[in-house]
Amino acid sequence: MAETRTQDAIALLKDDHRTVEKLFKQFEDAKGDGRKQKLAQQICMELTVHAKLEEEIFYPACEGKIEEDLLKEAFVEHDGAKVLIAEIEAADSESDEYFEAKVKVLQEQIEHHIEEEEKGSDSVFGQVRKADIELKALGEQMAARKQELIATYKADGLPRPELKTMIATEI
Ligand SMILES: [Fe+2]
Repeated sequence: MAETRTQDAIALLKDDHRTVEKLFKQFEDAKGDGRKQKLAQQICMELTVHAKLEEEIFYPACEGKIEEDLLKEAFVEHDGAKVLIAEIEAADSESDEYFEAKVKVLQEQIEHHIEEEEKGSDSVFGQVRKADIELKALGEQMAARKQELIATYKADGLPRPELKTMIATEI
């Protein structure tokens, strides 16, 4: 999607949320393994870019300015989602009997993520709006990085999950 206007950081991340919500809905309605597989791949790409933007740029900008617990939870939740994303990315919709279940559970996790970021004044975005954070500049930085990440992932495929908070298992 060509994006010419400048979005602030929150608008950009909310747009990402709407995009994946739509894709999950399309996945639910899709008929046929091929179509489902394609949508699942798209979901994995969108979420990998989104998580990377949040971890690399947005959350660090929030550090010290919003509740620390909330940020820590977000990092752990991202890691949980990355494990599922890697599974879905590698799965074959025809031969993996858990394929649809994995996408469904990922959807539920992402719905929770969206709620924690968006809903109410205590949410991540609610707190960020009250904090002293340059959302426009951050949005520009994130939009540029987003294009870079998409180009890289399209060329090289998605990276192995980079877990920040989980150390018990090697993936
Ligand atoms: Fe998010």
